Order: sequence, then structure tokens, then C-alpha cells
Amino acid sequence: MPDFHALPIQPQAIQFDSERLTLTPEGPTLTRRMSDLAGLFLDEAARSAAAANENPVVYTVTSSPVPEADRELPQSITTIMPGNTSGELWMTKGHQHPNHQGEIYLALSGTGGLLMFDGEQTSWIEMRPGTIGYIPPGWAHRSVNTGDEPYAFLAVYPGGAGHDYGWVLEHGMGKRAFRGPDGATLLRPYAEQPGT
Ligand SMILES: [Fe+2]
Repeated sequence: MPDFHALPIQPQAIQFDSERLTLTPEGPTLTRRMSDLAGLFLDEAARSAAAANENPVVYTVTSSPVPEADRELPQSITTIMPGNTSGELWMTKGHQHPNHQGEIYLALSGTGGLLMFDGEQTSWIEMRPGTIGYIPPGWAHRSVNTGDEPYAFLAVYPGGAGHDYGWVLEHGMGKRAFRGPDGATLLRPYAEQPGT
């Protein structure tokens, strides 16, 4: 056994329930409501009004018991509800890994998009069940529900990668995803008002 600073956890099986979209045993679960997404949608007034009224759940993140510790490889299931705010599709906050490391997302159900931004270039991967989206080190990443049912994906990431949400507030994500008139997804420049 190598000499680790902190002892790793024991080998274990974690059960994924594809109907309920849960992990067993389960670690911490995070619920993000509209009130948690200040400053992220283009139409901040509409987001703020929704937060003040029904304050819907936009997405949840259920983690396995594997801790976010150096050398461990935690997993989580993120489920994004279908919906849009002034046409902008519901999405995760998005983050950068301060300790730049890669990550994989595996789409499980529904349809979505994996938006990535390295500060200059934007990348968009269509996510369908079975698609593995690879996030290279140094690319901020956000997931978007592009369909009419919940979009769920498995994330596997280095436990020491960290989550920097402020990076996205400062730098944006390069593009935003909107629901087009025919139901298709439209990617627009980050600051562009729809209809202009
Ligand atoms: Fe990440």
C-alpha cells in the first residue's frame, strides 16, 4: 500500500438506479433553486422574479460517498429540470476547476448539452444517453437541458479538482443556449440579447 497523507476509502460498489436517478449508498445531495442562480441568466430580472415567486428547483446533484479528497475519484448524478427563463434553457451554474484537472460526463437520460469555455474558445457537445463528454483541464463547464424531460448525467472527477463558480460570473461561458422558435437549441454570444 502506498504511503498516503490521508487514507483512501475502502473499495466499494455503488448502485445507480436508472429509473429514480439515484445512487446507493448516497452521499451529500445539493439542490439548486432559481434563487441560487443570481447573475447567470441573461434576463436577470426574469430570474429574480421567478426566484421571488415559485422559486423552482432547476437542478439537483446527488453524490456517491466517495469524498472530494486528493487522489479519490468522486462521482455524482446531476439532474436538470426542463425549462427556460426568457428563452434561455435551464442549466447548471457552471464552474472551473481551480486545480486544473479533467473530468468526464456520461449522459444517462433526457437530452442536454455540455458547454465548455477556456476563456477564448467555446465548445458545445450534444449529450444523448450513452454520450461521454470529455472536459479537458482548463475548460470551464456547464450543462444545459435542451429537451422536455429531466436531463441526467453522471460526472466522474478528481477529488482534488475543486469548484470555482466565481470564474464563470467573471468570465462568462462564451455562449448561451436558447430554445429556438422551432424547439431547436440556439447558441448565442454570451452578452447578445435575443432578437437582436
Ligand atoms: Fe467539474
